[in-house]
Amino acid sequence: MVIFKNVHDIALYLDNLRSEGARIGFVPTMGALHHGHISLLERCKADGLISVCSIFVNPTQFNDPSDFDKYPISTDADMAMLIEAGCDVLLLPSVAEVYPHGSGAMQSFDFGYLDTVFEGAQRPGHFRGVGQVVNRLLQVVQPHMLYMGQKDYQQCMVISKLLQMTGSTIELVICPTIREADGLAMSSRNRRLTEPQRAIAGIIYQCLVSIQAKNGDCSFARVHKECEDLMMAKGLVPEYVSLATAADLTLLQDYLPGTPMVALIAARLGDVRLIDNILL
Ligand code: PAF
Repeated sequence: MVIFKNVHDIALYLDNLRSEGARIGFVPTMGALHHGHISLLERCKADGLISVCSIFVNPTQFNDPSDFDKYPISTDADMAMLIEAGCDVLLLPSVAEVYPHGSGAMQSFDFGYLDTVFEGAQRPGHFRGVGQVVNRLLQVVQPHMLYMGQKDYQQCMVISKLLQMTGSTIELVICPTIREADGLAMSSRNRRLTEPQRAIAGIIYQCLVSIQAKNGDCSFARVHKECEDLMMAKGLVPEYVSLATAADLTLLQDYLPGTPMVALIAARLGDVRLIDNILL
Protein backbone atom coordinates (compact mmCIF):
# COMPACT_ATOMS: atom_id res chain seq x y z
CA MET A 1 0.00 0.00 0.00
CA VAL A 2 1.42 3.38 -1.01
CA ILE A 3 0.66 6.07 1.57
CA PHE A 4 0.36 9.78 0.78
CA LYS A 5 -0.10 12.68 3.15
CA ASN A 6 0.28 15.32 0.48
CA VAL A 7 -2.58 15.92 -1.96
CA HIS A 8 -0.31 17.04 -4.83
CA ASP A 9 1.80 13.89 -4.59
CA ILE A 10 -1.17 11.52 -4.67
CA ALA A 11 -2.77 13.47 -7.53
CA LEU A 12 0.44 13.12 -9.56
CA TYR A 13 0.78 9.42 -8.73
CA LEU A 14 -2.82 8.73 -9.79
CA ASP A 15 -2.43 10.87 -12.95
CA ASN A 16 0.40 8.55 -13.99
CA LEU A 17 -1.69 5.44 -13.31
CA ARG A 18 -4.63 6.88 -15.24
CA SER A 19 -2.42 7.77 -18.20
CA GLU A 20 -1.35 4.09 -18.29
CA GLY A 21 -5.03 3.14 -18.57
CA ALA A 22 -5.73 2.22 -14.92
CA ARG A 23 -9.21 2.78 -13.55
CA ILE A 24 -9.41 4.26 -10.08
CA GLY A 25 -11.93 3.38 -7.36
CA PHE A 26 -12.25 5.54 -4.26
CA VAL A 27 -13.41 4.71 -0.73
CA PRO A 28 -13.50 7.88 1.43
CA THR A 29 -13.57 7.23 5.18
CA MET A 30 -13.07 8.93 8.51
CA GLY A 31 -11.05 5.97 9.80
CA ALA A 32 -11.97 3.76 12.79
CA LEU A 33 -12.38 1.17 10.08
CA HIS A 34 -14.60 -1.91 10.35
CA HIS A 35 -15.79 -4.64 7.99
CA GLY A 36 -18.32 -2.26 6.44
CA HIS A 37 -15.46 -0.13 5.10
CA ILE A 38 -13.50 -3.21 4.07
CA SER A 39 -16.51 -4.49 2.12
CA LEU A 40 -16.40 -1.27 0.05
CA LEU A 41 -12.74 -1.85 -0.66
CA GLU A 42 -13.40 -5.48 -1.58
CA ARG A 43 -16.10 -4.42 -4.01
CA CYS A 44 -13.73 -1.90 -5.58
CA LYS A 45 -11.08 -4.59 -6.01
CA ALA A 46 -13.62 -7.09 -7.33
CA ASP A 47 -14.56 -4.47 -9.95
CA GLY A 48 -10.91 -4.56 -11.04
CA LEU A 49 -10.02 -0.98 -10.08
CA ILE A 50 -6.97 0.48 -8.36
CA SER A 51 -8.29 0.94 -4.81
CA VAL A 52 -7.72 4.31 -3.16
CA CYS A 53 -8.88 4.86 0.40
CA SER A 54 -8.75 8.10 2.38
CA ILE A 55 -8.80 8.55 6.13
CA PHE A 56 -9.72 12.08 7.16
CA VAL A 57 -11.88 13.04 10.13
CA ASN A 58 -13.53 16.04 8.54
CA PRO A 59 -14.14 18.74 11.16
CA THR A 60 -16.65 20.65 9.01
CA GLN A 61 -19.28 17.89 9.06
CA PHE A 62 -19.58 17.69 12.87
CA ASN A 63 -22.38 19.97 13.97
CA ASP A 64 -21.68 18.85 17.56
CA PRO A 65 -18.07 19.66 18.59
CA SER A 66 -18.11 17.00 21.34
CA ASP A 67 -18.98 14.37 18.70
CA PHE A 68 -15.86 15.47 16.79
CA ASP A 69 -13.71 15.34 19.95
CA LYS A 70 -14.94 11.82 20.76
CA TYR A 71 -14.68 10.46 17.23
CA PRO A 72 -12.57 7.28 17.52
CA ILE A 73 -9.10 7.43 15.95
CA SER A 74 -7.16 4.21 15.30
CA THR A 75 -4.88 4.98 12.38
CA ASP A 76 -2.34 2.18 12.99
CA ALA A 77 -5.04 -0.50 13.24
CA ASP A 78 -6.80 1.05 10.20
CA MET A 79 -3.62 0.84 8.12
CA ALA A 80 -3.09 -2.79 9.14
CA MET A 81 -6.67 -3.63 8.06
CA LEU A 82 -6.22 -1.84 4.75
CA ILE A 83 -2.94 -3.62 4.00
CA GLU A 84 -4.54 -6.98 4.83
CA ALA A 85 -7.49 -6.16 2.55
CA GLY A 86 -5.10 -5.33 -0.29
CA CYS A 87 -5.72 -1.58 -0.49
CA ASP A 88 -3.44 -0.08 -3.16
CA VAL A 89 -3.25 3.56 -2.11
CA LEU A 90 -4.04 5.43 1.11
CA LEU A 91 -4.49 9.19 1.44
CA LEU A 92 -3.96 10.42 5.00
CA PRO A 93 -4.14 14.21 4.68
CA SER A 94 -3.97 16.87 7.39
CA VAL A 95 -6.65 19.57 7.74
CA ALA A 96 -4.24 22.03 6.09
CA GLU A 97 -3.89 19.73 3.06
CA VAL A 98 -7.64 19.41 2.64
CA TYR A 99 -8.46 23.04 3.42
CA PRO A 100 -5.30 24.96 2.48
CA HIS A 101 -7.08 28.33 2.66
CA GLY A 102 -9.52 27.37 5.42
CA SER A 103 -12.81 25.54 4.99
CA GLY A 104 -14.65 28.85 4.46
CA ALA A 105 -12.73 29.32 1.21
CA MET A 106 -13.86 25.96 -0.23
CA GLN A 107 -16.82 25.53 -2.55
CA SER A 108 -19.95 24.70 -0.58
CA PHE A 109 -23.20 23.13 -1.83
CA ASP A 110 -26.87 23.58 -1.04
CA PHE A 111 -28.65 20.22 -1.14
CA GLY A 112 -32.10 21.79 -0.77
CA TYR A 113 -34.81 19.46 0.52
CA LEU A 114 -32.32 16.67 1.29
CA ASP A 115 -30.71 18.94 3.85
CA THR A 116 -33.99 19.67 5.63
CA VAL A 117 -35.11 16.15 6.61
CA PHE A 118 -33.84 13.32 8.86
CA GLU A 119 -30.06 13.74 9.29
CA GLY A 120 -30.20 17.16 7.64
CA ALA A 121 -32.79 18.37 10.15
CA GLN A 122 -31.12 16.73 13.17
CA ARG A 123 -27.58 17.79 12.26
CA PRO A 124 -27.66 21.30 10.73
CA GLY A 125 -24.65 21.92 8.49
CA HIS A 126 -23.64 18.24 8.43
CA PHE A 127 -24.33 17.61 4.76
CA ARG A 128 -22.74 20.90 3.70
CA GLY A 129 -19.58 19.67 5.40
CA VAL A 130 -19.86 16.21 3.81
CA GLY A 131 -20.47 17.73 0.37
CA GLN A 132 -17.53 20.09 0.75
CA VAL A 133 -15.03 17.43 1.81
CA VAL A 134 -16.16 14.78 -0.67
CA ASN A 135 -16.01 17.32 -3.49
CA ARG A 136 -12.47 18.29 -2.45
CA LEU A 137 -11.32 14.64 -2.16
CA LEU A 138 -12.87 13.79 -5.54
CA GLN A 139 -10.96 16.68 -7.13
CA VAL A 140 -7.73 15.25 -5.72
CA VAL A 141 -8.34 11.55 -6.41
CA GLN A 142 -10.42 11.91 -9.62
CA PRO A 143 -11.75 8.36 -9.41
CA HIS A 144 -13.83 6.57 -12.03
CA MET A 145 -15.96 4.96 -9.32
CA LEU A 146 -16.88 6.06 -5.80
CA TYR A 147 -17.89 3.44 -3.21
CA MET A 148 -20.20 4.29 -0.30
CA GLY A 149 -22.32 2.29 2.14
CA GLN A 150 -26.12 2.11 2.17
CA LYS A 151 -26.00 2.49 5.95
CA ASP A 152 -25.70 6.24 5.31
CA TYR A 153 -28.59 6.23 2.87
CA GLN A 154 -29.23 9.97 2.97
CA GLN A 155 -25.51 10.68 2.61
CA CYS A 156 -25.50 8.52 -0.55
CA MET A 157 -28.36 10.62 -1.93
CA VAL A 158 -26.52 13.83 -1.06
CA ILE A 159 -23.38 12.59 -2.84
CA SER A 160 -25.41 11.48 -5.84
CA LYS A 161 -26.83 15.04 -5.97
CA LEU A 162 -23.32 16.48 -5.57
CA LEU A 163 -22.17 14.47 -8.60
CA GLN A 164 -25.15 15.79 -10.57
CA MET A 165 -24.57 19.39 -9.45
CA THR A 166 -20.89 19.28 -10.42
CA GLY A 167 -21.60 17.55 -13.76
CA SER A 168 -19.34 14.69 -12.68
CA THR A 169 -19.06 11.43 -14.61
CA ILE A 170 -17.93 9.50 -11.51
CA GLU A 171 -20.11 6.45 -10.94
CA LEU A 172 -21.44 6.10 -7.38
CA VAL A 173 -21.62 2.48 -6.21
CA ILE A 174 -23.84 2.03 -3.14
CA CYS A 175 -22.88 -1.14 -1.26
CA PRO A 176 -25.05 -3.10 1.20
CA THR A 177 -24.92 -2.41 4.93
CA ILE A 178 -22.72 -4.90 6.79
CA ARG A 179 -24.22 -6.06 10.07
CA GLU A 180 -23.16 -7.69 13.32
CA ALA A 181 -24.74 -11.05 14.25
CA ASP A 182 -27.66 -9.31 16.03
CA GLY A 183 -28.30 -7.04 13.05
CA LEU A 184 -26.61 -3.90 14.38
CA ALA A 185 -25.24 -2.00 11.38
CA MET A 186 -21.46 -1.75 11.56
CA SER A 187 -20.40 1.77 12.41
CA SER A 188 -17.30 3.43 13.81
CA ARG A 189 -19.50 4.81 16.58
CA ASN A 190 -20.38 1.28 17.82
CA ARG A 191 -17.04 1.06 19.58
CA ARG A 192 -18.17 3.86 21.91
CA LEU A 193 -21.06 1.74 23.22
CA THR A 194 -20.74 0.24 26.69
CA GLU A 195 -21.42 -3.50 27.02
CA PRO A 196 -25.02 -3.02 28.27
CA GLN A 197 -25.67 -0.47 25.50
CA ARG A 198 -24.20 -2.79 22.89
CA ALA A 199 -26.48 -5.59 24.14
CA ILE A 200 -29.61 -3.61 23.22
CA ALA A 201 -28.36 -1.75 20.13
CA GLY A 202 -29.60 -4.56 17.83
CA ILE A 203 -33.18 -3.44 18.59
CA ILE A 204 -32.81 -0.74 15.93
CA TYR A 205 -32.47 -3.38 13.23
CA GLN A 206 -35.29 -5.47 14.77
CA CYS A 207 -37.54 -2.43 14.43
CA LEU A 208 -36.51 -1.87 10.81
CA VAL A 209 -37.22 -5.52 9.98
CA SER A 210 -40.63 -5.26 11.63
CA ILE A 211 -41.46 -2.09 9.63
CA GLN A 212 -40.48 -3.99 6.49
CA ALA A 213 -42.38 -7.16 7.44
CA LYS A 214 -45.61 -5.34 8.37
CA ASN A 215 -45.80 -3.48 5.07
CA GLY A 216 -49.33 -4.22 3.82
CA ASP A 217 -50.51 -5.78 7.12
CA CYS A 218 -51.21 -2.70 9.22
CA SER A 219 -50.75 1.06 9.24
CA PHE A 220 -47.30 2.58 9.53
CA ALA A 221 -48.61 4.63 12.48
CA ARG A 222 -49.16 1.40 14.41
CA VAL A 223 -45.72 -0.07 13.65
CA HIS A 224 -44.16 3.30 14.37
CA LYS A 225 -45.70 3.33 17.84
CA GLU A 226 -44.67 -0.29 18.52
CA CYS A 227 -41.08 0.51 17.51
CA GLU A 228 -40.85 3.68 19.57
CA ASP A 229 -42.38 1.91 22.58
CA LEU A 230 -39.95 -1.01 22.27
CA MET A 231 -36.93 1.25 21.89
CA MET A 232 -37.88 3.44 24.82
CA ALA A 233 -38.69 0.43 27.03
CA LYS A 234 -35.16 -0.89 26.42
CA GLY A 235 -33.43 2.45 26.99
CA LEU A 236 -32.94 3.69 23.44
CA VAL A 237 -34.04 7.27 22.76
CA PRO A 238 -35.51 7.46 19.24
CA GLU A 239 -34.91 10.67 17.29
CA TYR A 240 -36.91 9.53 14.31
CA VAL A 241 -38.56 6.33 13.11
CA SER A 242 -39.68 7.27 9.63
CA LEU A 243 -40.83 6.06 6.28
CA ALA A 244 -39.93 7.80 3.02
CA THR A 245 -39.84 7.23 -0.70
CA ALA A 246 -36.57 5.54 -1.63
CA ALA A 247 -36.09 7.72 -4.70
CA ASP A 248 -36.16 11.17 -3.11
CA LEU A 249 -36.81 10.77 0.64
CA THR A 250 -40.28 12.31 0.55
CA LEU A 251 -41.67 11.71 4.04
CA LEU A 252 -44.58 9.24 4.08
CA GLN A 253 -47.31 9.03 6.70
CA ASP A 254 -48.23 5.49 5.64
CA TYR A 255 -47.02 2.64 3.44
CA LEU A 256 -47.40 3.48 -0.25
CA PRO A 257 -48.15 0.24 -2.12
CA GLY A 258 -46.13 -0.20 -5.30
CA THR A 259 -43.58 2.50 -4.41
CA PRO A 260 -40.00 1.69 -3.39
CA MET A 261 -39.65 2.96 0.17
CA VAL A 262 -37.00 3.25 2.84
CA ALA A 263 -37.51 3.08 6.60
CA LEU A 264 -35.01 5.15 8.57
CA ILE A 265 -34.21 5.20 12.27
CA ALA A 266 -31.95 7.44 14.35
CA ALA A 267 -31.67 6.74 18.07
CA ARG A 268 -29.44 7.63 20.96
CA LEU A 269 -27.89 5.25 23.45
CA GLY A 270 -26.34 7.48 26.09
CA ASP A 271 -24.29 9.97 24.13
CA VAL A 272 -23.86 7.68 21.12
CA ARG A 273 -26.09 8.40 18.15
CA LEU A 274 -26.85 5.49 15.82
CA ILE A 275 -28.58 5.51 12.42
CA ASP A 276 -29.77 2.70 10.18
CA ASN A 277 -32.25 2.05 7.36
CA ILE A 278 -33.89 -0.69 5.36
CA LEU A 279 -35.41 -0.73 1.88
CA LEU A 280 -39.00 -1.87 1.39
O1 PAF B 1 -19.26 8.51 5.78
C1 PAF B 1 -18.19 9.03 6.14
O2 PAF B 1 -17.33 8.40 6.74
C2 PAF B 1 -17.94 10.51 5.85
O3 PAF B 1 -19.12 11.23 5.92
C3 PAF B 1 -17.21 10.75 4.53
C4 PAF B 1 -18.05 10.33 3.34
C5 PAF B 1 -15.88 10.01 4.52
C6 PAF B 1 -16.91 12.26 4.38
O4 PAF B 1 -16.12 12.73 5.42
